[in-house]
Amino acid sequence: MEQKMTIREVGPRDGLQNEKEIISTEQKIQWINQLSDSGLSYIEITSFVARNWIPQLSDSLSVAKGIKRKKGVRYAALVPNLKGLEHALEADIDEVNVFMSASETHNQKNINKTISQTLPALKSVCSEATAAGKTLRGYVSTVFGCPYEGKVDIHKVLTICHELFSYGVDEISLGDTIGVANPRQVEDVLELVQKEFDSSKIAMHFHDTHGMALANILKSIDMGITVFDSSLGGLGGCPYAPGASGNVATDDVVHMLHQMGYKTGIDEAKLHAAAVFIQNRIRKPLRSHQMAISNSVK
Ligand code: HMG
Ligand code: MG
Repeated sequence: MEQKMTIREVGPRDGLQNEKEIISTEQKIQWINQLSDSGLSYIEITSFVARNWIPQLSDSLSVAKGIKRKKGVRYAALVPNLKGLEHALEADIDEVNVFMSASETHNQKNINKTISQTLPALKSVCSEATAAGKTLRGYVSTVFGCPYEGKVDIHKVLTICHELFSYGVDEISLGDTIGVANPRQVEDVLELVQKEFDSSKIAMHFHDTHGMALANILKSIDMGITVFDSSLGGLGGCPYAPGASGNVATDDVVHMLHQMGYKTGIDEAKLHAAAVFIQNRIRKPLRSHQMAISNSVK
C-alpha cells in the first residue's frame, strides 16, 4: 500500500510574514482559495499577532473572514496570547497554533517574553481555545540552533514539548527556524523525542537556508515522521531570526514524495498554478526548484 504523507502549508503565514512586498487582502484571499483547491488538507492562513510586530499580516481578520472554506481543509493561524485568540475565534479559525522558542533570546526577541512567562500565557490560550472547540498545534522554534545563542539543549525542547502536550496540543511542530539542521542531527533529536512522544504527534518544520531541508525530511521519514510543514515556492522566513531563509518549498517536497511513490492528495499542476500566482504578486522569482525550472523555460 502507498504510504500517505501530510503537508501543512504555511506559506500564507510563514511565507508572507517575511516578504517585503505587501500583498493586498484580496490577493491573499485569492491565493489561499487556490491553495484550498490544490488538494492541500491544511493551510496556516495568517497570524493574529500584534500589528506592529508583523505588519504584513495585519489584515488577518479580513483574510480569515474572506476566504472560501473548503470541506476537508483545516484552516489554522498563529496565536501568541489571549488577545490573538479573541480575533482567531471571531474569525472562526479551525485550529489555533501557539508558538515559542527553546532558546531564551529568540523567544524574547520574537514574543517579548521569557520562556517562563510564555508557558502560562500559552496555557491560558490553549485552555480557552479548547473550551471553544478548537484543535491546537504547538510550535517549538530554534530546536536545531538559535541565531543568537547557537546550540540549543535538546532537554529544553523536551521540557517544552511536555508542557505543551499537557496543555492539550494535538501536534507539536519542531522548528528548524534558521535552517541549520543536518540529517545526522535530525536523527539524534528524533531519537530522543521519540523516546518520550508518539511520532504521529510530531511534525517537522524545516527552513532551507543551507539547502539541507529535503535531506532532513528524508531522514525524518526514515525515522517514522509523516507530517511536514512547507511553504509554496519556498517563500518566507522568520523576521526575528536574522539570516533565516524561507521554509522548504511545498512544490519541491510534494514532487519528491510523489516521485518516491508516497501519496499526498495534492495536485502538482494546481500547486504550480498557485505558485505562479504568488510569484507574480511578490514580483521576484520564487526559490523552489520546481519554479526555477518553469521560470527558465519561459
Ligand atoms: P508586546 O509588545 O509585549 O505586547 O508583544 P503587549 O501585550 O505589551 O501589547 C502591546 C500592544 O500590542 C497593545 O496595543 C496590545 O493590545 C497589542 P496598544 O495598547 O499599545 O494599542 N497586542 C495585540 N494586537 C493584536 N493581536 C495580538 C496582540 N497582542 C498584543 N495578539 C506579542 C507581544 C506576542 C504580541 C508580540 O511580540 C508579537 O505579536 N509577536 C509575534 C511575532 C511573530 O509573529 N513572529 C513570527 C512568527 S514565529 C515563527 O515564524 C517561527 C515558526 O515559523 C516556527 C519556526 O520556524 O521555528 C512558527
Ligand atoms: Mg518557520
